[in-house]
Amino acid sequence: MMDASPTLRTQRLILRQFQASDADTVQRLAGVKEVAAGTFLPHPYDLEAATKWIAQQQENFAAGNTIALAIVLAQEEQLIGSIGMEIAREHQLARLSYWLGVAYWNQGYCTEALQAVLDYGFTRLSLHRIYAPHFHNNPASGRVLRKVGMTHEGRMREHYIRFGQFVDVVIYGMLREEFLNRRRGA
Ligand SMILES: CC(C)(COP(=O)(O)OP(=O)(O)OC[C@H]1O[C@@H](n2cnc3c(N)ncnc32)[C@H](O)[C@@H]1OP(=O)(O)O)[C@@H](O)C(=O)NCCC(=O)NCCS
Repeated sequence: MMDASPTLRTQRLILRQFQASDADTVQRLAGVKEVAAGTFLPHPYDLEAATKWIAQQQENFAAGNTIALAIVLAQEEQLIGSIGMEIAREHQLARLSYWLGVAYWNQGYCTEALQAVLDYGFTRLSLHRIYAPHFHNNPASGRVLRKVGMTHEGRMREHYIRFGQFVDVVIYGMLREEFLNRRRGA
């Protein structure tokens, strides 16, 4: 079991636990096809699905295997997306996932959120490895992962089916030592 869900702060963002009252914003942002296309979010995505997902996150966190944080603009107190990790304790490993509402893309928010989550994962949870898969046809996600210093580890060809098409999946990873070295400027 982990302690209470963390609240992480960055220059422009607050990353906090989802609340039931976030459901309509989550539905509106995550219900857009461009957002769904990079993820396995259900599509179409209705309010009931968003409400259930939020309740599920709270349970998952309590069980100690998932952390999902709302990405909130600190000044405007506006929810703009989600970032999370699925944790495999037995391997000291976590897998990242994230999405942002389309209006908030390409302003560095995901990179900023991801840095805070990596820091939390490696220093607070003492994870050994954090990795992220992304669909090959989603270069923005690969760019974010490179910007935070993760290593391209490979590509699984036609690994999943998304919207009826086989998609290649690209894997990026980072080890704790690499994160610490990077932070030290080594
Ligand atoms: C992936 C995603 C979270 C990125 O969020 P973001 O806040 O826009 O990311 P950032 O602004 O921190 O960085 C985006 C980078 O990708 C680059 N980029 C954007 N579109 C691109 C494209 N088509 N090809 C290559 N690079 C691209 C941007 O220029 C930027 O890099 P730069 O800072 O060097 O200019 C967002 O696009 C998203 O929510 N997509 C839909 C959901 C999704 O795919 N989630 C990821 C699942 S693995």
